[in-house]
Amino acid sequence: MTVESQPPRPRLAAGREHVVAKVGEIEPGDHKLVPIGRHGVGVYNVDGTYYAIANYCPHEGGPLCSGRLGGRSVTDERAPGGASLVEDGQYIYCPWHQWGFELASGTTAVKPEWTIRTYPVRVENDEVIVTA
Ligand code: FES
Repeated sequence: MTVESQPPRPRLAAGREHVVAKVGEIEPGDHKLVPIGRHGVGVYNVDGTYYAIANYCPHEGGPLCSGRLGGRSVTDERAPGGASLVEDGQYIYCPWHQWGFELASGTTAVKPEWTIRTYPVRVENDEVIVTA
C-alpha cells in the first residue's frame, strides 16, 4: 500500500481583523485598551505608528497596558550621570515590577528569551485595524 502525498493545506489566518479605532482617536503617546482575547489588547500610537500588544505580562501576569510608556537608557559619556534616554515612548513598563518591553518587537532586556504577544496593525479607510 502506498501513501499518496497530500497537497499542502492553506494556512489558517493568524487571527481575526478588528476595527479598534478611527484614525485620530488614539493620540500620539496614548493608547486604547480594547476587549480582544482573555486579557484585552492595548493599541498604541507612537508618533503616528500603531502597535498592538496583549494586556498581559509574561513575568507574573501583570496588566501590562496599565503601565507607563518610556524609553531605554544607554551609556552616554557626554550626558550628566553618564547615561541618556533614547527611543522615548517606544517601551511599555509593567506596573507590577517595571519590566520594560519594546512595543515594536515585544522583547525585553530583562529576560531576552521572553516576549510579549504583539499583533499586526494597519490603517485602512480612516480605521485602525488589529489582526488578533
Ligand atoms: S508581572 Fe510584569 S514585571 Fe512582574
